[in-house]
Amino acid sequence: MTILESASAWAMDRAHVLHPYTDFSTFAEEGSQIIEKASGMYVTDSDGRRILDGIAGLWCVNIGHGREEMAEAIARQVIDMDYYNPFGHSSNVPAAKLAHWLATNSPGNLSHVYYSCGGSTANDAAIRLVHYYFSMKGQHRKKKIISRVNGYHGATYVAASLTGIHGTKIGFDRIGEDFIHHVSAADLYSRPRDMSEADYCDFLVNEFENRILQLGPDTVAAFIAEPIMGAGGVLVAPDGYHRRIYEVCKRYGMLYIADEVVTAFGRLGEWFASEKLFGYAPDILVCAKGITSGYIPLGATLISSEIYEVISRPQCEGGLFSMGLTYFGHPVACAAALKNIEIMERENLLANARSAGAHLQAAAASLINLPVVGDVRGSHLMLGIELVADKGTRAPLPKAVEIARSCLERGVMVRPIGNKIVVSPPITIDKDQCDTIVSAINDSILEFASGR
Ligand SMILES: Cc1ncc(COP(=O)(O)O)c(C=O)c1O
Repeated sequence: MTILESASAWAMDRAHVLHPYTDFSTFAEEGSQIIEKASGMYVTDSDGRRILDGIAGLWCVNIGHGREEMAEAIARQVIDMDYYNPFGHSSNVPAAKLAHWLATNSPGNLSHVYYSCGGSTANDAAIRLVHYYFSMKGQHRKKKIISRVNGYHGATYVAASLTGIHGTKIGFDRIGEDFIHHVSAADLYSRPRDMSEADYCDFLVNEFENRILQLGPDTVAAFIAEPIMGAGGVLVAPDGYHRRIYEVCKRYGMLYIADEVVTAFGRLGEWFASEKLFGYAPDILVCAKGITSGYIPLGATLISSEIYEVISRPQCEGGLFSMGLTYFGHPVACAAALKNIEIMERENLLANARSAGAHLQAAAASLINLPVVGDVRGSHLMLGIELVADKGTRAPLPKAVEIARSCLERGVMVRPIGNKIVVSPPITIDKDQCDTIVSAINDSILEFASGR
């Protein structure tokens, strides 16, 4: 028996894996919950417990788990052509086909795709492309990026700097503070009580414009935002917010980057949310996660034809576009994305996300009546529940981990983020499964509140 066979996965993991977002104080004793099997809407852990996946792995397994068709498409591509250099004028069939699909189905005139390995790298690429674009235009001072408090954009150095969630920064060094600036989150629940939604929207748009003026419009290059903030707590912006911010960007010659890592590929009932749901066509759109339903890593940064024209025009001749990743346009990942899209189309999963999503939001609305629930919000298959110690003061109650643990005992996986519980199931979910998730949260909160 080899050492790998004799030790349990739990023990090897506890000894050697440096987990993201792990609390080391409890990890040393508890170790990880090892997920061993996954099929459809369910995962099974190493204790044999079958759990309804209320978070699609991590906002990504949109078509549900364990699809043989996906395995076959991935295997087929490995057999046909596993990998080859994507640099220079070398490419592969799935990368070309996927780029064509993305350019055809994405909003506005996004015409070219820069591939990477996930959301963080796709956001890093977006910022490098913005900087390169303005350099090529001769606007060398136009490099600042405005992001938002509570926005989440990833964990590589620049993506982490774009991220506006305070807790992700503690103990870490910072880079980018000279060119990355944050404005307020669009957080309807936390706005002053006597402020209407429309007034709040005016406030946010004015704040944004003032920040541009303060920084100097000739130095501000782009704004980046998620259509609906995910990890920041499922924050849905006031009506008209994105469109108006987009218009301000255009007024000051800025680019709008839509981080659709979570919202693209069906979570909000559309391939892409920016234009269909929020009425603006971004200059750059970033996607990952749902593009392959998480079966294999892939990120994509889509740029407009205007940006492409500038960065590819004759003046660049002789100067290489020297920005490349070994796994750019990886054929196996792109083949997985194409099969994922085919499955979503064939099974009409966007329509399911719309109907199941409406059901989920309606069923969850009653949670607001529970003690310690301050807000219930979301859209389609993104749901956030905010826990408060006092409904009057809205003081946060950071006990979501306890509620999530209790949901797990009821056979349902939800995601705890501080004082927020997040739900983002596969878009294959049916209405009964939505009810199961909501009732597990309901019962877990009631149990928690009764023990306080
Ligand atoms: C909106 C958003 N952008 C970017 C990322 C980073 O993606 P990844 O973890 O694939 O690098 C995430 C991850 O959750 C995300 O939610």
